[in-house]
Amino acid sequence: MLSSEIRQKFLNFFEKRGHAVIPSASLVPNKSDSSVLFTTAGMQPLVPYLMGNPHPAGKRLVNIQKCVRTQDIDEVGDNTHDTFFEMLGNWSLGDYFKEEAIQWSYELLTSKEEGFGLDINRLHVTVFEGDEYAPRDDESAKIWEKIGIPKEKIKYLGAADNWWPARKTDFNWTGPTGPCTEMFYDDVEIWNDVFMEYSAENGKITGKLSQKNVDTGAGLERLAMVLQGKDNIFDTDLFSSIMSAAGSRIVADHIRTACFMIADGVTPSNTDRGYILRRLLRRAYVRNKDLGPVIDAVINHTSYKGLYTFSPDTQEVIAQELEKFKKALDAGLKQIEKGEDPFILFTSFGLPLEIIEEVTKIDRAKFEKQMAEHKRLSSVSGEQKFKK
Ligand code: SER
Repeated sequence: MLSSEIRQKFLNFFEKRGHAVIPSASLVPNKSDSSVLFTTAGMQPLVPYLMGNPHPAGKRLVNIQKCVRTQDIDEVGDNTHDTFFEMLGNWSLGDYFKEEAIQWSYELLTSKEEGFGLDINRLHVTVFEGDEYAPRDDESAKIWEKIGIPKEKIKYLGAADNWWPARKTDFNWTGPTGPCTEMFYDDVEIWNDVFMEYSAENGKITGKLSQKNVDTGAGLERLAMVLQGKDNIFDTDLFSSIMSAAGSRIVADHIRTACFMIADGVTPSNTDRGYILRRLLRRAYVRNKDLGPVIDAVINHTSYKGLYTFSPDTQEVIAQELEKFKKALDAGLKQIEKGEDPFILFTSFGLPLEIIEEVTKIDRAKFEKQMAEHKRLSSVSGEQKFKK
């Protein structure tokens, strides 16, 4: 099943069950939302409605949201991580709750007629184990059991796994939140149903919301992987033409993400969003100098035709950025050839270690020592400046 069919099946399934199809919001969050640089989940643009504001399209919504998560940048290249992905989601804004949400997830995953026809025997799920803020989610577990998932395939996990946004040590979320139940096909996490009935402020659960919501998220790339019988996302139809041009997963991923960022108005720069785009482009460039065909493969991808519009300037924006980078890089490398310490690539050319390691041989232990010393010196001079 091609990715375009997966999208269509998902939307049709929920449309038939009373959901209004809404378009993807931009990858660049609204000005009023300064909590993240990029939209990282389908929930983000919908926060005001999960908090109780009425949505113009109603209480049942379905969408495909473009997302970027760059905290996983170092995991890109393994089988299931990418920096850009599409998240399929159905939403209840104070309408249906656990029973319908779980039943529909199950139906869509396993139904041969209306859904993806996955094998129920390869499905297992997790539910929230409970803590001081919220009880054990026996209700969800019971619904799964009733559906036919055997007890031993229903695992209880804590707030780091079965709460959204995940309650880990860095949990500082303000907004709607709640326990979730996750679905796995063999070992691949394919869908997450979040039951948002709590609210959080600066990482503290403060109480219940005025309404009970459902936020679900299924990664299109992972669904495609499972439905196309692949063991990694880069072998799915979403990546195959891009991979042929890119030659490596990192290049394919980063250029795909860069094209989507540029489509939403991001330009390379030294700060925030622009810096993330710059890093992606540089990381790609040091691995593949011929990025034009990779960009073409993304913007002409059949799965994106009619759905997303890329900037007509994509090639130019990337070429100009990399031209500047190439000049700086060449100048730096020339100096190293003349005997300069590779550390100047960091101090004089502003290249991060991850790039330097790609372009020249370094003694990592020595380099790290130099970095520590450099940091110490700059903080000392910073303190002195501050004293004056
Ligand atoms: N927000 C949840 C997630 O990202 C479900 O949509 O998993």
